[in-house]
Amino acid sequence: MSGLDVIKDRQRHMWTIGDYAAIAEMIEGASEAAVDRAGAGAGKRVLDVATGTGNAALIAARSGASVTGLDLTPKLIEIATERAREAGLEAEFIVGDAENLPFDDDSFDCVTSVFGVMFAPHQQRAADELRRVCRPGGRIVTCAWTPTGLNGRMFGLIGANMPPPPEGFQPPVLWGTEERVSELFAGSEVSVETLMVPFEDDSIEEWMARNERILGPTVMAKEVLEADGKWDSLREELTALYAGANEATDGTMHVEAEYLLAAIDVA
Ligand SMILES: C[S@@+](CC[C@H](N)C(=O)[O-])C[C@H]1O[C@@H](n2cnc3c(N)ncnc32)[C@H](O)[C@@H]1O
Repeated sequence: MSGLDVIKDRQRHMWTIGDYAAIAEMIEGASEAAVDRAGAGAGKRVLDVATGTGNAALIAARSGASVTGLDLTPKLIEIATERAREAGLEAEFIVGDAENLPFDDDSFDCVTSVFGVMFAPHQQRAADELRRVCRPGGRIVTCAWTPTGLNGRMFGLIGANMPPPPEGFQPPVLWGTEERVSELFAGSEVSVETLMVPFEDDSIEEWMARNERILGPTVMAKEVLEADGKWDSLREELTALYAGANEATDGTMHVEAEYLLAAIDVA
């Protein structure tokens, strides 16, 4: 076990606390784009890595594909399984690690990961696993927040205020750059698009209060920093970040968070 593996325990905790299902509803558009670019449909075998509550997996299942969703966090896999049951969709959901996929080589035609594999600490190992299980001629599609976009800057502010990560840590938002994705999938053709996810609320203050309740990274930052009296200053910085990005002029909030969608054609 490497020192970076501790990040996986933190990830599991971070996405268990709060109410991730409510966040997943807000970012479903990215899963629609990912499944579309992956070319999922009837007759295709699709794997959604770090599926969370199953957004991309369920969209792919609705297209007629044969779908497996995998995630590190048991609570989210339970929710994904329940969502599939309620929608009458066939999809298999399993708990697992993007860095050690429990599938044979070339098992899938399409592999998607929406704001998911970016959080695996051994980036190259995870990328190699995605490529290993995708058949030659198949397609991998990843979505990741860009470092300079709103969510990239939000993660940057939280990271700068939290205790330092273990040695060798690479920021997840590197997956939001064409350079890093091309490096991780060297030898495959990579094409990218820069897209946006909109977030809306009644006000910036309402958004901040909501994030403190439901968004794992914010809930965890508050949990860690409040005891040392350091939460209030980070909260102010985050409030200023959203206020600066706000496009609404009527007191409500409309912000857009940039992400990189990368389509990797496996040779
Ligand atoms: C922001 S959520 C995205 C979930 C989902 N793809 C969506 O679009 O809503 C990040 C997800 O990555 C999962 N995750 C983090 N590290 C992982 C790993 N090493 N292997 C599998 N899943 C992981 C978390 O459990 C969480 O569900």
